[in-house]
Amino acid sequence: MDMGLNNKTALVTGSTKGIGKAIAMELAKEGVNVLINGRNYEEVEQVVNEIKSKFPATSPQNATADLVSIKQREALFDKYSSIDILVNNMGIYEIMDYNDVDDTVWEKYFKTNVLAANGLCKFYLNKMLKNNYGRIIFIASEEAIMPSGQMPQYCMTKSMLLSLSKSLSKLTIGKEVTVNTIMPGPTLSENVYKIIDSIYSDENMAFEEKEKEFMATNLPQSEIQRFIRPSEIGRLAAFVCSPYASAFKSSPIRMDGGMVPTIY
Ligand SMILES: NC(=O)c1ccc[n+]([C@@H]2O[C@H](COP(=O)([O-])OP(=O)(O)OC[C@H]3O[C@@H](n4cnc5c(N)ncnc54)[C@H](OP(=O)(O)O)[C@@H]3O)[C@@H](O)[C@H]2O)c1
Repeated sequence: MDMGLNNKTALVTGSTKGIGKAIAMELAKEGVNVLINGRNYEEVEQVVNEIKSKFPATSPQNATADLVSIKQREALFDKYSSIDILVNNMGIYEIMDYNDVDDTVWEKYFKTNVLAANGLCKFYLNKMLKNNYGRIIFIASEEAIMPSGQMPQYCMTKSMLLSLSKSLSKLTIGKEVTVNTIMPGPTLSENVYKIIDSIYSDENMAFEEKEKEFMATNLPQSEIQRFIRPSEIGRLAAFVCSPYASAFKSSPIRMDGGMVPTIY
């Protein structure tokens, strides 16, 4: 299916690996000129070159910046003043005991997972409204609506993104601009792969066996009993960005492999 995205420009935050990179790849496949972001210039450049060679008709760009820094965000705005699509994917996560989460940690998570994305929305949303075209996606998590209790500092920020998405969507009434949230379940980013691979020391065990064992023991509520592949989230994100998805307005879109047990 041609998603009607040819020649659009998209900033995908945190796109040097994992879900962000997969979203950038799927958008580039649709002819989108993607701005690749991460904090390490060389790593960003590698992804830019990979996309250039796979999708030579597109013009990927290096958008290296630490998005938590207001100064670096402003430098990014100077360089790329107008975009059609903003995917707020960048986020940090870590299992933590509630008692170990002090104010510094709460603040770090709020600044990284919420304020950085909000800063980008504040700059780009008005321009999208003026152009009467735009797509903003927040990447939250199933933990936004079903906190496991294992990462309270993370879940709080992901729930906040749902609220922010709704508030921003109210500003888009009557416009061809949408703001939505995708909530992935456990997804096989490079980090997750390494963790699962290292848990089982048996060298003869194939990764698929380790994955199966891990899911059965740790995530029995998952109905797919495997990790979601980043490309699956990427394909969904590309669709939500397309002109065909303009009726999705402030939707919390679940792709969680059946992790959330409720009807809605
Ligand atoms: N993986 C999962 O199971 C899962 C499930 C549900 C939701 N999610 C959400 O999906 C998103 C991506 O997760 P992931 O597992 O794919 O992440 P990841 O593999 O850890 O990748 C994170 C990306 O963000 C970049 N980054 C980190 N801090 C940054 C900063 N301050 N400024 C700019 N870039 C920064 C990283 O590059 P550098 O470190 O080089 O800067 C990297 O490109 C996150 O929001 C996460 O909460 C993940």
